[in-house]
Amino acid sequence: MTDRARHVIASCRHIAAMTEEPGRISRRFLTPPVREVHSYLRQSMADLGMDVCVDAVGNLRGLWKPAHRGRRRLMMGSHIDTVPDAGAFDGVLGVILALEWVRLAQEIAFPTAIEVIAFSEEEGVRFGVPFIGSRAVAGRLDPSLLRLKDAEGVSVDEAIRQFGLDPMKVPEAAIEPEDAAFVEIHIEQGPVLEAENRSVAVVTGIVGQTRLSLEFIGHANHAGTTPMHLRCDALAATAEWIAVVEAFARRTDGLVATVGKITVEPNAGNVIPGRVRVSLDVRHIRDSERNSAADELISKAGAIAERRGLTFEYSRLMNEPAVSMDEQLTAYLAEAVEAAGYPLKEMPSGAGHDAMVMAMRMPTAMLFLRSPGGVSHHPDENVLEEDVEAALQVGRRFLERFAADQARTNSSPR
Ligand code: HGY
Ligand code: MN
Ligand code: MN
Repeated sequence: MTDRARHVIASCRHIAAMTEEPGRISRRFLTPPVREVHSYLRQSMADLGMDVCVDAVGNLRGLWKPAHRGRRRLMMGSHIDTVPDAGAFDGVLGVILALEWVRLAQEIAFPTAIEVIAFSEEEGVRFGVPFIGSRAVAGRLDPSLLRLKDAEGVSVDEAIRQFGLDPMKVPEAAIEPEDAAFVEIHIEQGPVLEAENRSVAVVTGIVGQTRLSLEFIGHANHAGTTPMHLRCDALAATAEWIAVVEAFARRTDGLVATVGKITVEPNAGNVIPGRVRVSLDVRHIRDSERNSAADELISKAGAIAERRGLTFEYSRLMNEPAVSMDEQLTAYLAEAVEAAGYPLKEMPSGAGHDAMVMAMRMPTAMLFLRSPGGVSHHPDENVLEEDVEAALQVGRRFLERFAADQARTNSSPR
């Protein structure tokens, strides 16, 4: 075990203490603890001789350029924002390991520039829409998203300005995918590698994701004087629909559907809820199944509202298609896993990642590390030193293969 593996885990745990809420890990898009994370990572990047900048959406970007470099740029990275009460490794591990891969690249006289990005926003917690960081880098950030407001009424545009950045410069964050490739290292966030006792897996594809906001609108009234048959109870309607969502997903092969967020108005124990807003997250590896499931669950919500005399509204926050990983990069990762002496495991990702956005613009691949206990988006999230060591051993061999490929293409006429 190299001490680098211990350093990687220690760095993730050090960054975990940079939080909006002392005692638990919560770090939303461009909130104050992000500055602490930036200054820590800036130092790590500077120690590697990287040029460092922050783009207009708060992505921290380090670029290492070898003296004689080929045309292609290898991009790596992951996100540094978290869900509320998160673990210490979702996202951050991928940034720290990417910097370790830069260190490995420097040891093998790697012939290509490497850019490492700490993406500013992947979870979508603050503004309800994920991937602001990687969408900007991929040139896919819809300007209308800048008008979205958070719970305090602050817009994305204002949050960018409050952080000292200029939203007018968002287009400059986009990279030309001229000759770039992207690799993300991430925890699996599920039970598969744990169940099969494997350290790493090569990702074959990332499931598509639909995120909706739905609102059941009834009539608030007195909880003591309003007979049951005269109520338009928005929370009772929502509860009926949530049970329908769970039953529908349980009987639909390969589908997961989650209602994770709910707000109730006026949210008082002695008032019949008049208005309820809920989230819906629907995922499936086949986009047609995901889209028809989302449509079905929307129509079921409408039917329940109508039968109960309520009104119902919904909006689509995200419709991200499933993506496949790049064959050549994935083959290099698979060869590197076996060359490092680890059994090869290939699997799809049920979690969304910045890689699904970058894959729209350039060849992309992902390497998973085991999630002990299959736990993630939870303070018990963890990684094992032996698995971090595996990612370092795989990294060396992947970079060697990528470098050899560059040598071949650089020597061949364009
Ligand atoms: O929600 C996801 O799949 C990811 O963890 N952001
Ligand atoms: Mn996550
Ligand atoms: Mn993540």
